[in-house]
Amino acid sequence: MKLYRHYKNKPYTYVGLAKHSETLEDMVIYETRYENALGKVWVRPKTMFFETVDVGGVQIPRFKKIPMEIVDTTDVTADKIDTVAPIIERSFGQWDAKWFYSKFNDHQKFFLVIAWVQGQAVAFKLGYERTEKKFHSWLGGVTPEFRGLGIAQDLMNHQHDWCKAQGYTKISTKTQNRFREMLVLNIKNGFNVVGIDSDSPDGEKILLEKIL
Ligand SMILES: CC(C)(COP(=O)(O)OP(=O)(O)OC[C@H]1O[C@@H](n2cnc3c(N)ncnc32)[C@H](O)[C@@H]1OP(=O)(O)O)[C@@H](O)C(=O)NCCC(=O)NCCS
Repeated sequence: MKLYRHYKNKPYTYVGLAKHSETLEDMVIYETRYENALGKVWVRPKTMFFETVDVGGVQIPRFKKIPMEIVDTTDVTADKIDTVAPIIERSFGQWDAKWFYSKFNDHQKFFLVIAWVQGQAVAFKLGYERTEKKFHSWLGGVTPEFRGLGIAQDLMNHQHDWCKAQGYTKISTKTQNRFREMLVLNIKNGFNVVGIDSDSPDGEKILLEKIL
């Protein structure tokens, strides 16, 4: 996760490192996550970004990484579903409990990953076993204020690592053209388009698979 808080309490996204073209010094590129009339994208030497500053005689980091905890489970209980329901509602515009729970009649072995930031569940990824060797990544979303921070990528890595450890050799997923960000994320992570489901009641679905 790439979320940092400046010691004056403003949040920033760490974008990455760049070289100063004249001095070759490492520079950090970072972006405001609030309205700043002076600009959105900023740069400062890496040493400064990660240094401590004196505040009232106490040394504190100029920028402090906001920690994220990833919690996973195969025991998808009602309280965990209550935790992810608001993320589903905000990611997809609705929360249809009946539809959601109906999946649990068709499949047995589920794996749920939830990302927590400062006591708030901000993202999840949920899938289930299709066959002994194949896992299906069913549903995922990140709360809008926490997008663009690498959280979906972190959850996907976590899910894939778990799948490999379980002995699955293939992972499948489905998405729609309207979910562009997810499509890009899947392609970037090695999924191939393997077909189109034109009969889905929710509209055309793109079928993707990845060899683990
Ligand atoms: C799709 C979604 C989960 C991505 O979450 P996220 O935490 O913002 O994604 P990340 O920050 O981890 O991005 C990882 C990669 O995904 C791709 N990506 C994410 N957002 C993107 C955007 N707005 N435009 C283009 N690519 C994007 C990029 O490849 C990105 O890597 P990069 O930052 O190195 O370029 C989030 O946008 C979401 O919840 N969307 C609504 C729900 C949804 O579409 N769910 C999937 C339905 S199948």
